[in-house]
Amino acid sequence: MSTAEWTSRYQGAVMNTFGPPQTVLVRGEGSHVWDADGRKYLDLLAGIAVNALGHGHPAIIEAVTRQLAILGHTSNFFATEPQITLAEKLLQLVGHDGRVFFTNSGTEANEAAFKITRRTGRTRIVVAEGSFHGRTMGALALTSKEAYRAPFEPLPGDVTWVPYGDAAALEAAVDDTVAAVLIEPIQGEAGVVVPPDGYLRHAREVTTRHGALLWLDEVQTGMGRTGAWFAYAESGIVPDVVTLAKGLGGGIPIGACIAIGDAGTLLQPGNHGTTFGGNAVATAAALAVIATIERDALLEHVVTIGDQLRRGLDDHPLVAETTGRGLLVGVVLHEPLAAQVQKAAMAAGLILNNATPDRLRLAPPLVLTEDEAAEAVAVLRGVLDEVSA
Ligand SMILES: Cc1ncc(COP(=O)(O)O)c(C=O)c1O
Repeated sequence: MSTAEWTSRYQGAVMNTFGPPQTVLVRGEGSHVWDADGRKYLDLLAGIAVNALGHGHPAIIEAVTRQLAILGHTSNFFATEPQITLAEKLLQLVGHDGRVFFTNSGTEANEAAFKITRRTGRTRIVVAEGSFHGRTMGALALTSKEAYRAPFEPLPGDVTWVPYGDAAALEAAVDDTVAAVLIEPIQGEAGVVVPPDGYLRHAREVTTRHGALLWLDEVQTGMGRTGAWFAYAESGIVPDVVTLAKGLGGGIPIGACIAIGDAGTLLQPGNHGTTFGGNAVATAAALAVIATIERDALLEHVVTIGDQLRRGLDDHPLVAETTGRGLLVGVVLHEPLAAQVQKAAMAAGLILNNATPDRLRLAPPLVLTEDEAAEAVAVLRGVLDEVSA
């Protein structure tokens, strides 16, 4: 069946929340995917920063298959070996004692964190403009885009908005009534926006001074995407809460809310729950992702390939600047042509994202090779030439 036929069936049966699909994908291998018409694409988006090991990685297939054969799902009346091991591993990567709550997605990881903030006895949350934290009602209350929020108001309240990256605005907004400050170390959905140096350190100082939690949303930036396990690592701070999802399971749905130190005990029995969160198969997949990143030294690789992509695109006349770290790459255009570039790239066999009218986002598999990156640069430069002509 052709892509056109599948698309028509999609439109008759799947709720229209995403608009028409760009194509219908049927197969993936490494950094490539194929659509129903047999067209091959180099996948520079990886399920939006999800397929950390690319498509069909043997380590994930092996871990999921093995775990499913041993014990698939149990409910949270019971614990499982991979769940406990993954919680310990995440705390080891954070480098501090704490507690982990497992979820199935990023928005749910943020819901868990939101509930943690309410258990401080305070309700006010300070959030950055341009933020994206998810689509459930709690996470949406902390997401800035008006078009996403307006149809669903009233949302949970007591949210204070500050400009992203503005240390003075943060200083002015935080006082002893604030439960938490919530920040993405790099804003992904906003088009890979990096705050000024020292911003996270400042946020840590301000929150500590006022007894507020510092909650970092690493759903998009975490698990090696920026060349470190967590994007906040280079700032040298210790946050109170870190939320994860996307790359954590390498394509198997899983999220995590990590609460460090005392924050780890704020949720008590009965305060929160989920049927699927911490599922044995999903946690086994995440352990395989982490083990592969460690075994194959992918954090170093991510930095090298990210630099290669940025260097290859920086000097194109349509490009104002490239942003981000590691394999979370923003390409800022001089003109609002990102949608045209995305379309032309797709026609040229490249999957990427137009995050805003003038910003492209690349978030390829962490295993993208040097040759694939060179191909990506060559094809994308051709597309940028074509669109600017
Ligand atoms: C920073 C951030 N937080 C939360 C989310 C929501 O995650 P999910 O789509 O898994 O619910 C996203 C998704 O793009 C994100 O980028």
